[in-house]
Amino acid sequence: MTHSVLILNGPNLNMLGSREPDVYGSETLDDLEKLCQARAAEMGLNIDFRQTNSEGELVDWIQTAATDHAAIILNAGAYTHTSIAIADALRACGCPVIEVHLSNIFQREEYRHKSYVSEIAQGVICGFGSKGYELSLEAAKRLIN
Ligand code: DQA
Repeated sequence: MTHSVLILNGPNLNMLGSREPDVYGSETLDDLEKLCQARAAEMGLNIDFRQTNSEGELVDWIQTAATDHAAIILNAGAYTHTSIAIADALRACGCPVIEVHLSNIFQREEYRHKSYVSEIAQGVICGFGSKGYELSLEAAKRLIN
């Protein structure tokens, strides 16, 4: 059976490539999706890669994740640091969750050091740029097996 991993990207990640390239790198969200597709195929996983700027849409997607997906990789962007609604949805959903960030949030402003997602996530990968998404897929594969 081929497992599916839901990869969710939150606000402003659609701006990758032009958004603060010194912090987030020069790759676009499309590049990131292609990278994930290629790595997932090597590992025998399917992925469903999505982005939204809306907190409510992230909650909706998380609520239905367990129906079709074996794990969630989540970069909730700034909602990481603010959203109890996303944390509650993750708690209820029952899927293993891997939290990912392109930047090392602990080396940045103090308000980025708090993550509501980390309280639920099996693990956190941050600071490795796009490579972090590949590492997250490897972590997802281990959790699923
Ligand atoms: C981010 C880090 C967050 O603090 C920030 O708000 C983002 C991106 C990252 O991938 O490094 O939008 O999640």
